[in-house]
Amino acid sequence: MTVKIFDTPDVQAFVKTVAGFDKTGGNDRAKQIVHRLVGDLFKLIDDFDVTEEEYWAGVNLLNALGSQTQFGLLSPGLGFDHFLDMRQDAIDAEAKRTGGTPRTIEGPLYVAGAPEAEGFARLDDEATEGETMWLTGQVRDVNGTPIAGAKVEIWHANSQGGYSFFDPSQSEYNLRRTIYADSDGRYTARSIIPSGYGVPEGAPTDVVLKSLGRHGERPAHIHYFVSAPGHQHLTTQINLAGDPYTYDDFAFATREELVVPAERIDDPAEIAKRDLDGPFSHVVFDVELAQTDAAELQVRHARPRAKEDDQDLASQLAGTAKV
Ligand SMILES: [Fe+2]
Repeated sequence: MTVKIFDTPDVQAFVKTVAGFDKTGGNDRAKQIVHRLVGDLFKLIDDFDVTEEEYWAGVNLLNALGSQTQFGLLSPGLGFDHFLDMRQDAIDAEAKRTGGTPRTIEGPLYVAGAPEAEGFARLDDEATEGETMWLTGQVRDVNGTPIAGAKVEIWHANSQGGYSFFDPSQSEYNLRRTIYADSDGRYTARSIIPSGYGVPEGAPTDVVLKSLGRHGERPAHIHYFVSAPGHQHLTTQINLAGDPYTYDDFAFATREELVVPAERIDDPAEIAKRDLDGPFSHVVFDVELAQTDAAELQVRHARPRAKEDDQDLASQLAGTAKV
């Protein structure tokens, strides 16, 4: 037997009551959104004949996600982070702010306050094991003019997929640096090739993804913020080509323009030129920043994030996604 009650006057009135429409206090936008959200879920329960067992299993799953601070992991997994990027792309297109390197999701593991350098920085502490990476690029505007002094913030995982600050085995700010581009807009970083990683087996996010027949793996990637006065702040990542998950990222961060090869170099002259000990992988990522006159678009940091003085948030984030 299928029962449908959503469209009855009683239920329609009830959703309005739930959303506080008959109360003068509160926040009008919250009321509108909760009215829509609860109404849509009521209708879903009706349409799919959701059983009480299914409903309470869902509540338990939400509790598990919350208690393990995994909504920040489920969010990219269910495409919300990418959807927000798609919306921002459309907003930019509408405002004729076209061109520039594509944005993609930030993930939850940026940490402010990384050491700063001019032109060149070594990202790894010398104790970090991994294949040497030489990461270079030039920051330009959409006309191809180099942007001297552009701020390039880079962070990535180690070869086990862990991030400093969240992985207590790593030194402070390991694999995190801010490099100001030189007079020709160029930046250079010495580091190690990061590893991809996955959602922890059995974690609530893993349960959700498995129920969809999906995996929770990410390819090896490197996060960037790039900014300069008069230009749009860019949040992006590069995915290393050749990873099994380069085009199958559970977080939907891959964009064709952001897939870059890591070229193995074993020419002794090239090794000597960089004062390295042996063969290395060369990764090149040039960045184009779109221009803007709007100051508020130069820095867009909506996501709460860990800072060196924000241990509570850091401990909440620790143990969650390495996105
Ligand atoms: Fe990441």
